[in-house]
Amino acid sequence: MSDAARRAVLRTEKLSLHIGGVSIVEGVSLDVDDGEFLVIIGPNGAGKTTLFNLLSGVVYPTAGRVMLGERDITHEPPYARARLGLGRSFQTSTVFSELSTLENVRIAAQARLGGSAAIWRQADRGRAPLERAKNALALVGLAARSSDHAGALSHGEKRKLDLAMLLCGEPRLVLLDEPTAGMAVEDVPDMMELIARLHREHRNTVLMVEHRMDLILGLADRMAVMHHGALLAVDTPDRIIANETVQTAYLGDPL
Ligand SMILES: Nc1ncnc2c1ncn2[C@@H]1O[C@H](COP(=O)(O)OP(=O)(O)O)[C@@H](O)[C@H]1O
Ligand SMILES: [Mg+2]
Repeated sequence: MSDAARRAVLRTEKLSLHIGGVSIVEGVSLDVDDGEFLVIIGPNGAGKTTLFNLLSGVVYPTAGRVMLGERDITHEPPYARARLGLGRSFQTSTVFSELSTLENVRIAAQARLGGSAAIWRQADRGRAPLERAKNALALVGLAARSSDHAGALSHGEKRKLDLAMLLCGEPRLVLLDEPTAGMAVEDVPDMMELIARLHREHRNTVLMVEHRMDLILGLADRMAVMHHGALLAVDTPDRIIANETVQTAYLGDPL
């Protein structure tokens, strides 16, 4: 096994999804290294969300493999992947409006019981769901809203709640699909700082879809460019910006 393969926490091998003769994801081979911050960019319809669906088990590929560490998870359902430490946020909010903010996170924490994340997070072994829920809410800055109905939160706060629900599962790898989509401009820096801290202080490996270059630069260790379902380039941000193939793919939609 190569050094790269050994370091990868997540690896796809020629991952493809063809539906009715249409290629939606095409031969994607991507290594996400342990601890890295990798950002996926690409025009609308490039297949970024579909790739996340394949990684999290929402849909299954028509060809190729998904490896989480040494384990082939290609055919594992979403809950099994979550238990193995893969956490995923969605482009749209999934909270229960009529329940309190804390209850939403507690349900998510409970759903995660019996997982094997303890392999990775020894210190958290045996921690009660309620405690994990409170920790996650504090982490995203929503502790003061614990007893408020989730429906009363602003859109930006709901996105933070989504993140808390993801984090209380104590993932090793977090997949964030446009975490600032639809947010008020003034809420964006806060969210990005939170994501930066998750990576820096909490040592999560982060795989994030984000369009806005101003948000990515300074955060991303590497960037992957998707175009027509395929990976066009994977490289450091500097080299991606200078890459002519990438520039061409973005004609009319400049970086
Ligand atoms: N289940 C599906 N059936 C048919 N087409 C799909 C399905 N899922 C996604 N697509 C299509 O695949 C393409 C990629 O979509 P998506 O992954 O959402 O792109 P992105 O997130 O990069 O904007 C789009 O053209 C979309 O309409
Ligand atoms: Mg998308």
